[in-house]
Amino acid sequence: MNETLKTIKNRYSCRSYTGEAVEREKIEAIALAAVQSPSGLNQQPWKIIVLQNKATIDEMDSALMEKLAAQEDRSAYDRMMSRGGKVFYNAPCMFVIAKLPGKDMDCGIVSENMALAASSLGLGNVICGMAGVIINDEAGLKFKEQLIPEGYEFGVALLVGYPTNPEGTPHEPDLSKIVYIE
Ligand SMILES: Cc1cc2nc3c(=O)[nH]c(=O)nc-3n(C[C@H](O)[C@H](O)[C@H](O)COP(=O)(O)O)c2cc1C
Repeated sequence: MNETLKTIKNRYSCRSYTGEAVEREKIEAIALAAVQSPSGLNQQPWKIIVLQNKATIDEMDSALMEKLAAQEDRSAYDRMMSRGGKVFYNAPCMFVIAKLPGKDMDCGIVSENMALAASSLGLGNVICGMAGVIINDEAGLKFKEQLIPEGYEFGVALLVGYPTNPEGTPHEPDLSKIVYIE
């Protein structure tokens, strides 16, 4: 198996970080992998915002946990509590992928390019849609103003950092999802 296939096979969603800062060169390599992504008509309808201020990430985390706690449906809050009580899992770095309206496909491709880049560098990472719940909420307006450039909207985020347990495993691939027509 070549290195690319090994990285794809071994990538997993990391949900517990030491909080230790990630080296600048690794952050830059992940950001570069983002902007190397393919896009329809090469429009590159994204902006990559690299948030390395742990205090801001923690503040967003608390605001989001508060929001989840106040929801009638407590399932998301309970899930996060069962995972340690932090929606961003103590990650020291959050990449926010902002996109132009309607450009979800391009945004998804960027996030996977970045996840694979991070994994290949020995970093834990998880694609994080939950960040949008606070960024797009009234209670998170100041985060939106800080993170999302004019004319763009939240696409998805990627949390990156050193895992507390580097032995994480990905989901079991379901081979029945593949259909061959010959
Ligand atoms: C669009 C998208 C949004 C996701 N949002 C979250 C999230 O907010 N929090 C989280 O812990 N995992 C999130 N995940 C990770 C998935 O739960 C994970 O990929 C899936 O359970 C498969 O596990 P694996 O990545 O370890 O193989 C997201 C994944 C995708 C693709």
